[in-house]
Amino acid sequence: MLAVVGLGKAGLPLAAVIADSGFKVIGIDVDEKKCEMTNRGVNPIPEETGLDELIKKHAGKNLVATPRYEDAANCEVFIVIVPLFVDENHNPDFRVLENAFRNIGKVLKKGDLVVLETTVPPMTTEIIARKWLEEESRLKLGEFYLAYSPERIMTGYSISRLKEFPKVVGGADKESGMKVFEVYRDFVPNLHLVSSARVAEFIKLMEGCYRDVNVALANELFKVADELGIDFYEARQYANHEYCHIHMPSTGVGGHCIPLYPWFLIKEMEKKGKFGYVKLLRTARELNDEMVSYWAERIVMECMKISKPLNEIKICIKGITFREGVKELYHSRNLALVKLLTEKGLNVFVYDDLFTKEEIEKMGLKYLEPENADVVFDCFELTMSKV
Ligand SMILES: NC(=O)c1ccc[n+]([C@@H]2O[C@H](COP(=O)([O-])OP(=O)(O)OC[C@H]3O[C@@H](n4cnc5c(N)ncnc54)[C@H](O)[C@@H]3O)[C@@H](O)[C@H]2O)c1
Repeated sequence: MLAVVGLGKAGLPLAAVIADSGFKVIGIDVDEKKCEMTNRGVNPIPEETGLDELIKKHAGKNLVATPRYEDAANCEVFIVIVPLFVDENHNPDFRVLENAFRNIGKVLKKGDLVVLETTVPPMTTEIIARKWLEEESRLKLGEFYLAYSPERIMTGYSISRLKEFPKVVGGADKESGMKVFEVYRDFVPNLHLVSSARVAEFIKLMEGCYRDVNVALANELFKVADELGIDFYEARQYANHEYCHIHMPSTGVGGHCIPLYPWFLIKEMEKKGKFGYVKLLRTARELNDEMVSYWAERIVMECMKISKPLNEIKICIKGITFREGVKELYHSRNLALVKLLTEKGLNVFVYDDLFTKEEIEKMGLKYLEPENADVVFDCFELTMSKV
């Protein structure tokens, strides 16, 4: 029997896929409402393709959700996928992770395997998670197994990603590596064992940094092309080939993941006094975060073409989520753009297909359908239109 700790956008699809592979899964989540919904066969993440069917099929049978760690005392495998946030100074805040590991430590038995899947700073598994488990369980690594496997899903496509995308596992010691490989290969078709937990952790961070730096590059090239009167998209189409993959420009990079991961490495190098090793990562972060100022300026320029006082022009920002199609506002740069324009004293409204008028107004924002605005900025298409 396996336990999946954290039934969020990443954990619940994973728990459902493991249950669908024929295993009994106990899902642990501090959110009682989410547990209760899951046990009734109601999918708390409706935007996740294919999850409805899996929850209906396995709820209360192969998949049982509970807020109590004691209910998982008979599990031999614990998979942890709770969030890790960063504070206002970009330092990782381990409190949620520590709570999960210490609770597992209390029910941990000899021979059990604990696998961390949350994206974490280097060495978290081998040093920090190990310490929490050893302190609570009074067992030593060797008496239990500990490993890391990065979650590489994308909300909306998690089920197919889990079934097809290469997944890596690495142990805190050699035995843990072998153990996690043996356990995971029963429900992960495309599985790869790497030499250590730290390598597995770094794989995910590399991926996040690559995305952030390349989005920053696309944003920079987009601004340059626009200044020179060049069609960026036409150029990009022919520039891209096997060795060149220019990303899409944007209002910046949002969500729980990519904007956080470069900081894990920046902070780690700063602790070692190696500031120069992470110059590019830091610059990419700054460039992406500054994109809202660029777009705000473009919107103001568009407004100036209208013969009305600036503060009377109705500006509609279309799309406020951090990514198109995902109802999530965490570190949304589109929301940051709304805030910036409002601070400039402009008359800013918001429209998003995923939110009702009431939901938008509850956030303290003004709702307007695009056809009733003077200027519409589409945050995903990056298009400006005058109505
Ligand atoms: N969502 C993604 O697309 C994605 C992709 C790759 C990796 N990840 C990784 O997964 C992690 C979790 O992301 P998510 O999107 O699932 O977050 P989420 O906010 O959707 O879900 C987290 C869940 O953990 C629960 N939780 C919090 N504290 C807990 C505790 N002490 N014990 C048990 N449950 C607890 C919350 O109630 C919530 O249901 C991220 O931090 C990231 O490292 C997410």
